[in-house]
Amino acid sequence: MAEEISSSKKRYAIVTGANKGIGYGICRQLASNGITVVLTARNLKRGLEAIESFKGLDFFDNIVFHQLDVVDPSSIASLAEFIRIHYGRLDILVNNAGIGGVDVDVDALRASGYGSGGPDGSHIDWNGILTETYDLAVECLQTNYYGAKRMIEAFLPLLYLSDSPRIVNVSSSMGKLKHIPSEWAKGVLNDSGNLTEERVDEVVNEFLKDFKEGSLKAKDVNFNTGHLTVEEGAESPVRLALLPDDGSSGLFFVRNEVSSFE
Ligand SMILES: NC(=O)c1ccc[n+]([C@@H]2O[C@H](COP(=O)([O-])OP(=O)(O)OC[C@H]3O[C@@H](n4cnc5c(N)ncnc54)[C@H](OP(=O)(O)O)[C@@H]3O)[C@@H](O)[C@H]2O)c1
Repeated sequence: MAEEISSSKKRYAIVTGANKGIGYGICRQLASNGITVVLTARNLKRGLEAIESFKGLDFFDNIVFHQLDVVDPSSIASLAEFIRIHYGRLDILVNNAGIGGVDVDVDALRASGYGSGGPDGSHIDWNGILTETYDLAVECLQTNYYGAKRMIEAFLPLLYLSDSPRIVNVSSSMGKLKHIPSEWAKGVLNDSGNLTEERVDEVVNEFLKDFKEGSLKAKDVNFNTGHLTVEEGAESPVRLALLPDDGSSGLFFVRNEVSSFE
């Protein structure tokens, strides 16, 4: 990985939703690659516990904590001010924070044989295991889409001050267009030449309207199958975060492979 680091100069990164899971793994790997990482968490206690767990490791000094809730603009503004004052710029933004947007009946999930079949969980009848509600759908969009968007908007001025800026948005293969049942929505999102923020908002709002009216087919559940360890899940975002200046941009990766958005 060392040859992929574009500069030996000190570099500063933010990782969202990093008190556990893949975000935590990304912080660990970035810090052990010499990057100064701001590990963020929406909950102060959970964030400080995560930092505490790195104590004694040789890259501990590379990790700093700051509270961040990506649905709260004032929390984002406070982090941006912290970065501006302490580092003067940002080199890497990893938008990792995300929620599933469904209620999971864990007992029913265990009883379903989940994890024993194919990697996509297609052998399982998800009815009765996952419950989708309008409020969860709103929360999911506010976190996974608008949260990442708010972060990019807030940190672009600081990223522009870097000579090697990079944004990595952690997504899921469940976010591919083929999982979207609406042909209209798929068409809008696939038309990259004409895609604007307003068009994306239109799709999001139509989705929520359909959900409220009960006319949405409940099939795109965005549930993660969990076949990788945290360290393995973190490897691809970290590799992308450390790409050289002329590295790929604007692409969708599934692990190490470039993948279509479809
Ligand atoms: N695990 C998988 O199989 C898998 C597969 C494909 C893609 N992904 C993607 O990878 C990313 C991380 O997933 P994971 O499995 O590591 O999930 P996870 O263990 O549930 O961790 C999610 C993190 O996001 C944080 N978070 C949630 N809402 C937030 C908010 N409003 N502001 C700031 N942080 C917030 C959580 O904080 P709390 O602890 O406070 O809840 C937690 O730290 C997600 O974007 C997910 O969609 C995961």
